Amino acid sequence: MISVPPGYVAQTTSTLAACLARVPHLAERLGGKPDAWHIEEVGDGNLNLVFKVYGPRGAMAVKQALPYVRLVGESWPLPLSRAHYEHTALSEQAKHTGRLTPEIYHYDDKLALIAMELLEPHIIMRHGMIAGIEYPRFAGDISTFMARTLFFTSDLALAADRKKAMIGAFSGNTALCKITEDLIFTDPYRIADLNRWTKPFLDAYAARWREDDDLKLAASRLKLKFMSSAEALLHGDLHTGSVMLTTQDTRVIDPEFAFMGPMGFDVGAMVANFLLNYFSQDGHEDQAGARNSYRAWILQTLVQIWNDFAEKFLALWRGHATGDAYPSSLFQGELGAIRLEAERRAYMSRLWTDTLGFAAAKMIRRILGLAHNIDLEKITNERVRATCEARALTLARDMMVNPGGYPDIAAVAAAARSMRAWTPEFS
Ligand SMILES: Nc1ncnc2c1ncn2[C@@H]1O[C@H](COP(=O)(O)OP(=O)(O)OP(=O)(O)O)[C@@H](O)[C@H]1O
Ligand SMILES: [Mg+2]
Repeated sequence: MISVPPGYVAQTTSTLAACLARVPHLAERLGGKPDAWHIEEVGDGNLNLVFKVYGPRGAMAVKQALPYVRLVGESWPLPLSRAHYEHTALSEQAKHTGRLTPEIYHYDDKLALIAMELLEPHIIMRHGMIAGIEYPRFAGDISTFMARTLFFTSDLALAADRKKAMIGAFSGNTALCKITEDLIFTDPYRIADLNRWTKPFLDAYAARWREDDDLKLAASRLKLKFMSSAEALLHGDLHTGSVMLTTQDTRVIDPEFAFMGPMGFDVGAMVANFLLNYFSQDGHEDQAGARNSYRAWILQTLVQIWNDFAEKFLALWRGHATGDAYPSSLFQGELGAIRLEAERRAYMSRLWTDTLGFAAAKMIRRILGLAHNIDLEKITNERVRATCEARALTLARDMMVNPGGYPDIAAVAAAARSMRAWTPEFS
């Protein structure tokens, strides 16, 4: 048995009402008596418990960390403190993005439990994209989320002491960072018990990826950047499974992997998940070409996500450079302003290169590592799935080892389009 701190009890649908009833403002929000509250467990997360609670007056979602990985059980312990980091990150993100995160109603550190706004009728974006739903607001909303959370927690906006305090505040989230370090940057490139891929079709790919020194060096370079570049507060798991939305409203959930890391990791996660979903569409259309216009929407949105992000980030830098980096007293006069603007552009270009690499790493891990995405997993015809996956793997490898071939996001979209025309040898 894993030991837990005094006072911690994992909740069930039978115990949660009494637990919430002890917090007057939550009981007030739900209304009526606790025995009138309807409680359901969601049960589609891998790591934690999530409940939906409905009362006569109001409703809420309740998320509780377990002392282990929910999907695996006690054989994979994971610290309860991830709820603290999730709560701290949600609070920080809310300061910068307003209604792009769920409102927090209550946090109980002892129970590692967060009560928050119930997002309904929102669905997980990944499910929406598998169903072929277009989200016209998404690129605008996610680019705002990324630009504002990353800019306002960086040295461009924060005084040095506050930035360092923030590094301190998140530095204990080491167990969650270690999951990323192992599962994203290491395991897919070596023999590891947890790895899996679509067999036998991708056996040769997995073997080649393990023997590819250029790729392993590029992945290791990215890993070092992930471990050592405390640029800004990252969400840490910013994929389409961490977005709940409707066509009118976008919310980012689940920042339990939050820590101070390289900005390109968050932006790259989004890019990777759009590309994976793009390649998966061949497995979701009922006849060839049926998803052509959806594919066009995916790539057009992908391009807009990066371009809007870059524009918004630059605008924040020009207008709100309150941090200790690039002191304005050093760049006075017209020439100073011109040089500083060129420097900002060079910074964005480096951030693009990071984004490209992290996106590639995230694509590869979803195909050769432990945790896969249902975008691809849902494709039951394994040959078709492996074909989609081989295209994604091949593009990702090239993005990682030949970043110069992708000067901008439009080049990535164009390469994805051409890659779809390529048929792997087993297909
Ligand atoms: N605020 C909310 N309102 C409605 N449903 C929610 C809310 N938060 C989470 N959910 C539901 O619960 C599921 C799991 O939530 P979440 O992703 O936060 O849990 P997790 O255990 O950290 O999962 P993951 O494996 O993605 O890390 C979501 O996929 C979503 O269906
Ligand atoms: Mg999670």
